[in-house]
Amino acid sequence: MSKLWGGRFEKQTDEAVEAFTTSLGVDARLWDADIRASIAHARMLGKIGVLTPEETDAILSGLQALREHIAAGKVTFDPKAEDVHSEIERLLTERIGAVAGKLHTARSRNDQVATDTRLYLREGIDALLEEIRQLQQWLVHTAESHLHTILPGCTHLQHAQPVSLAHHLMAYFWMLQRDHERLTDCRRRVNRLPLGSAALAGTSFPVDRQMVARELGFEGICENSMDAVSDRDFVVEFLSCAALVMVHLSRLAEELILWNTPEFGFVDLDDSVTTGSSIMPQKKNPDVAELIRARTGRVVADLTGALVVLKALPLSYNRDLQEDKGFLFDALDTALSSVALMHLMLSRARFRTERMRQAVRGDFSNATDLADYLVRKGMPFRQAHEVVGRAVQYCLKQGVALEDLSVEQLRAFSNLFDADAVQILQPEAVMQARRSDGGTSPEAVQQQIALARKLLGGDDI
Ligand code: ARG
Repeated sequence: MSKLWGGRFEKQTDEAVEAFTTSLGVDARLWDADIRASIAHARMLGKIGVLTPEETDAILSGLQALREHIAAGKVTFDPKAEDVHSEIERLLTERIGAVAGKLHTARSRNDQVATDTRLYLREGIDALLEEIRQLQQWLVHTAESHLHTILPGCTHLQHAQPVSLAHHLMAYFWMLQRDHERLTDCRRRVNRLPLGSAALAGTSFPVDRQMVARELGFEGICENSMDAVSDRDFVVEFLSCAALVMVHLSRLAEELILWNTPEFGFVDLDDSVTTGSSIMPQKKNPDVAELIRARTGRVVADLTGALVVLKALPLSYNRDLQEDKGFLFDALDTALSSVALMHLMLSRARFRTERMRQAVRGDFSNATDLADYLVRKGMPFRQAHEVVGRAVQYCLKQGVALEDLSVEQLRAFSNLFDADAVQILQPEAVMQARRSDGGTSPEAVQQQIALARKLLGGDDI
């Protein structure tokens, strides 16, 4: 395999070293970004007169034809190539001859790889933002039809206070909204151009970096050439955003796994998104949700891996930086497919609302409301807490629900109880009473939904 740098070497590279150092297996997917960046670079070299118009044309049409050929699946990369950048240059040389060698003027693979990675990631972020939006739209849409569907709201996984399914689903909308905002913000720092920094110190050619930035849709250039070739903060930032997306999905996945058990029975996952067992004929397992939960671990590992690669790296480029892409691509692929599969699984799920309602019955999740009732009658909250605690204890011993007590029975605990105390104990009333901003009452959730719709930009939902 011919090298881009053979001149000063007297010996062939050992095959074991070639196998150890190649990155083609990982970075091959950068081919399109690499060609687009080269096209912009060649145009700029033509404009500043480093390439003649004929050379510029030859390089540009060679790159364009190569791009079409690779896209059409007509090109196989040499598996022994050092990386995608040298392979593209070799393929270009094969097509247009020695003039291809002029493309690398005022450029190094160090600024080239950083540029390609940013271009690729920018599109990856856009795709992830779109997947997140679609899941958010499903959540808003579904929440709207469950404003009055009651289920136990939990703390410590113990029944706490009844909430609506709409409210529960919207909690995930807001997590994803923060993910969307974080990724949008991260994208701004991804979207800066390293090219023109050359190996590390800049170049003696009068390059027009602003022109290249404009051509490639970057918002500006990286201001310091040493930083430009060695900065991978944008990778870490993305990995951190992706890890949090996965953490959010893992929480939802865990709830779906629990809700899908016979003990909860709150949701029925569709046959088409579940799998069976090779030995137990009756089984229908939530493997998609489990894999989303597990792959969260992978993305967290990707983030940790990238941070450790960067730690204590001296300026500027070091080959260590080649390792960023394994982490980056793994996290990007995992986050994209996980959001998409979560959406698919949810869109086919059947919520068993009658089971949810049943679960609230007699679960004492109305106890706070009974205490609040006494507070409204003037009793200090601490004392009310104690009184209702005794009523709960009584019910537990008698095996009855709090909402089943008569006024007379309630009055045995406090004579502040009147007939209306019985109504406020119904789970519907308990839920509807929480009208505070951000609360679970249908009116408050409707406000959340209105704001959510505004954030979604009035997209068709
Ligand atoms: N394949 C390398 C990477 O992905 C780029 C090559 C830069 N190599 C070099 N020896 N300067 O980081």
